[in-house]
Amino acid sequence: MKSTYGHFDDAAREYVVTRPDTPLPWLNYLGQDDLYGLCTNTAGGYTFWRDARLRRLTRYRHNNVPYDLGGRYLYVRDGDAVWNPGWKPTKTPLDRYECRHGLGYTRITGAKDGVEVELLFFVPLGENAEVWRTTVRNRSGARKDLRLFSYLEFCFYEALNDMTNFQRTYSIGEVEVEGSAIYHTTEYRERRDHYTVFACTREVAGFDTSRDAFVGVHNGLHEAAVPFEGAARGSVAHGWNPIGSHQVDLALEPGGEESFAFVLAYVDNDGVDRFEWPAVVNKERGRALVERYTREGAVDEAFDGVRAFWDDLLSTFEVDCPDEHAQRMANVWNPYQCMATFNLSRAASLFESGIGRGMGFRDSNQDVLGFVHLIPDRARQRILDLAGTQLSDGTCFHQYQPLTKQGNDAIGGDFYDDHLWLILSTCAYVKETGDVALLDEPVGYADTPGSAETLLHHLETSIAYTLSRRGEHGLPLIGHADWNDCLNLNCFSTQPDESFQTAGDVEGSRAESVMIAGLFLYACRELAALFRRLGRAGEATRLDGLHADMLSAVEEHAWDGDWYVRAFDAAGEPVGSRVCEEGQIFIESQGWCVLGGAGGGNGRARRALESVDERLATEHGIVLHQPAYTRYRVELGEISSYPPGYKENAGVFCHNNTWITLAWCSLGEGERALDTYLAICPSAQESRIDTYRSEPYVYAQVIAGRDAAIPGEAKNSWLTGTAAWTFVSLSQGILGVKPDYDGLRIDPCIPRSWRSYRVRRRFRGTRYDISVENPDGVCSGVRSLTVDGRAVDGNVVPPAAGPGPVRVDVVLG
Ligand code: BGC
Ligand code: NOJ
Repeated sequence: MKSTYGHFDDAAREYVVTRPDTPLPWLNYLGQDDLYGLCTNTAGGYTFWRDARLRRLTRYRHNNVPYDLGGRYLYVRDGDAVWNPGWKPTKTPLDRYECRHGLGYTRITGAKDGVEVELLFFVPLGENAEVWRTTVRNRSGARKDLRLFSYLEFCFYEALNDMTNFQRTYSIGEVEVEGSAIYHTTEYRERRDHYTVFACTREVAGFDTSRDAFVGVHNGLHEAAVPFEGAARGSVAHGWNPIGSHQVDLALEPGGEESFAFVLAYVDNDGVDRFEWPAVVNKERGRALVERYTREGAVDEAFDGVRAFWDDLLSTFEVDCPDEHAQRMANVWNPYQCMATFNLSRAASLFESGIGRGMGFRDSNQDVLGFVHLIPDRARQRILDLAGTQLSDGTCFHQYQPLTKQGNDAIGGDFYDDHLWLILSTCAYVKETGDVALLDEPVGYADTPGSAETLLHHLETSIAYTLSRRGEHGLPLIGHADWNDCLNLNCFSTQPDESFQTAGDVEGSRAESVMIAGLFLYACRELAALFRRLGRAGEATRLDGLHADMLSAVEEHAWDGDWYVRAFDAAGEPVGSRVCEEGQIFIESQGWCVLGGAGGGNGRARRALESVDERLATEHGIVLHQPAYTRYRVELGEISSYPPGYKENAGVFCHNNTWITLAWCSLGEGERALDTYLAICPSAQESRIDTYRSEPYVYAQVIAGRDAAIPGEAKNSWLTGTAAWTFVSLSQGILGVKPDYDGLRIDPCIPRSWRSYRVRRRFRGTRYDISVENPDGVCSGVRSLTVDGRAVDGNVVPPAAGPGPVRVDVVLG
């Protein structure tokens, strides 16, 4: 059954929304460098420069009624009818509506009474501007005299202040208007050296900058005064809530068409005279920017640039395989989402307000894993930025502000897994690029001004930090939490207003994490392999020893009979054990212990994964634990604060499902791997979209678990570690194309029914065209490998010299 709200257009790499009243607003992102826009299928959302908290250009109210109100609106007045091509805010019924979410752009087309208006929103490459290309067509048989009114609401840059401090903000608003350009200049008179400009590339018939004037104090946006009255008022905002609106009058003969653009830009005036006249802002740069897009053809060229950018990026990894969902996700939407999570971490979405969270340490390191093949240089810089927020003892700022790159103390620290993820991202980068010079880059510790230790030093500090914080079973201490932010074993919070992630004292704490133990095992192996690659056998052997020690602690203390326990709480009691009343088995420790090499020789790995399958797998994915906690448990923290089936309390937390996919791959179980992959795959949810509700083209963080009121309902789409890890689990685990220090390792783990597939991969400047044949219907095991017709021993394709394409033929068996 097909979704009734839209469909994929694979050839165009677009998702086509065919009716505006989707089960939830369906979001896309505009922008790829510094300026970003959130854009829903009804043109809702906002725009910011670099930092959604500190440089927000337009306003958005998150838990609004309806949900998605406020955005990039165009009102069309045709006779007495007033409508919006994106349906909202007037919700006037349209004769036709279509929204195409593409890569870095959204194109919304609405038509009514023979008038068709197409709005194409995008951010040109390397430009701090958002363009709204507007095309109006008269498809009726009569002349149309139309009035269009653009509308957006400015934000006073610092979004928290903007949303809370009205006694000040209602008195600071300032604008200047010059021709068709509206300049938002609030706070420029004091300490800001930047402003926002909202301009039209065409002559305008009027403007408004006061919300009270345009909308009316007692009106909603659906009944805004100006478009319904039919004429702009030329209002100039002094204080209150400044907006930007242009009136554009068009006369179109039958068959006539006109195209122009609105441009919203962030302009930095650093280094120029701030004022061109006393109290008149120097607008030279803003004018020049608007000029650029006024030139005939400029907008289309800029859009072609965005398309070419994505075409090139996505050609880094392309697959033809028997599964339609895997193919579509791998070729288009999964890397696209990886770009969004890399750029925005967990900062700005319809679920992340842009204020609470910046760049997460553990999140951003994991995001690198799914992004590094796309733009390795940006991943390199990110790794260094992250390392710069580590302290000299190994602990990390849990988050940092993107604008300042400074650790954000309010969110806390002492999550005893954070530092280990830096090892994973760094190794992934070196495997992808071969650039070992990164390891020697000097990067200071955040608490030691002027320090310049190497990145490799940071990785060693990370290992040492875990070693120095172990509990009575020899397992790593958990601190405030590990990957599971809600497993707060040292928190003991009874105060409703305190944060579970910062409350409680971790000094001298006892609670241990088996998940961190598994992650440590994995990180030790990664770092040992890196040292071997660097020719430093001594260090590698030392890490092998650390791995062996931790492994014996895990096997000795953490095996529960059928699975690995999850943790030991502050009283030394197991969490995630059959002796527990609730929360007897958890997913994370099974995934990470197996990935770290536990249970290999003794059958426990397989048993643990079978237990996951028996106890946690559902038709909507694998739930985090079972049974769900039915009451608040002060010794466990936030995990037991959620109602059963939601979020970390036994929801399907998609991120950790991917570790099970990879764990099945490590056992060579192709069917199990693909099944776990598909259970949470968004493209595979289209047929049950009325339950799922979220975007069918990107992953959501959580899908409600079997204990929830509506199992299968997804929430918190877009900014989730699921993006990077599903890309890794599909491309490296299932399809088995693994970047390694000495080349591309080919190690598939596919269902027996797959008889062949093909991957085109760019790797260190060379294109590889990899054909995999599976004549005997096996899951894994490479029988032969030829590179440009020459047989190669083993399963590693050595890096080639030229640009390629290099032909790689793989036969399984
Ligand atoms: C959520 C977690 C999240 C954490 C961040 C919790 O309420 O359940 O998923 O990581 O907040 O602080
Ligand atoms: C979301 C957070 O961003 C991530 O860091 C964490 O691991 C998961 N929630 C699980 O709690």
